Amino acid sequence: MKIGILGSGDVGRVLASAFLKEGHDVMIGTREIGKEKLVQWKSENAEGMTGSFEEAANFGETLVLATVGSGALSALGLAGKDHLSGKVIIDATNPIVQADNGFPQADHGVLRYFTTSNESLMEQLQHAFPDARFVKAFNSVGNAFMYKPSFPEGRPTMFICGNDALAKETVSGILGAFGWDAEDMGMAESARPIEALCQLWCAPGFLRNQWTHAFKLYKIK
Ligand SMILES: NC(=O)c1ccc[n+]([C@@H]2O[C@H](COP(=O)([O-])OP(=O)(O)OC[C@H]3O[C@@H](n4cnc5c(N)ncnc54)[C@H](OP(=O)(O)O)[C@@H]3O)[C@@H](O)[C@H]2O)c1
Repeated sequence: MKIGILGSGDVGRVLASAFLKEGHDVMIGTREIGKEKLVQWKSENAEGMTGSFEEAANFGETLVLATVGSGALSALGLAGKDHLSGKVIIDATNPIVQADNGFPQADHGVLRYFTTSNESLMEQLQHAFPDARFVKAFNSVGNAFMYKPSFPEGRPTMFICGNDALAKETVSGILGAFGWDAEDMGMAESARPIEALCQLWCAPGFLRNQWTHAFKLYKIK
């Protein structure tokens, strides 16, 4: 597949490298192609491409959204709605409130969100771009564990949701190849609790500097 990654931060670069390792063609989109970490990524991933948000969205048959939460709508706008229409967009973002210095704001280890518990960022994005096929995924684990995580208990669970069943199948297949069990939690509204999982995942990190975990759903069939 051709994968367009909208976002050049840690998540964008980690997922871009993962897709390359899985044999896909990848372009990372950014507003600043010359930024140091991206230039370094390109030097370490010779076959990987970089471009503008619009170029990456145009390139990708499947897209990944990995921008800061407050910049997600803007990045999709720069990508251009014609380049999003009909495409699966894996949404890894979280609606984290950031202070002026760029650091996330947290209360006793709980990240502050700019959404409430009866709404989610992904619903806002789906509403703004109704022809795109958003699937929430990868938002509830640190980037170090996104590709082929190794836990003694086995494969962890990635909770996903979205309005398009085929899009969720596509993303479940990608998650399987990346070492995850995908668990479909429903329609776009389920992004409310899935986005909140990021707050839960980060709490032990902020409180005890413990960042090496992932969620697992145990089930009786
Ligand atoms: N870090 C993690 O381990 C982790 C884990 C799970 C989920 N997430 C979520 O994944 C997303 C990406 O996280 P990250 O840590 O990789 O990077 P980040 O620092 O949160 O975001 C960097 C990206 O956001 C873009 N951006 C910033 N402001 C923008 C604006 N106003 N308009 C358009 N784009 C803008 C940047 O664009 P340029 O390329 O132009 O600079 C860059 O591509 C976040 O929503 C985060 O909550 C992060």
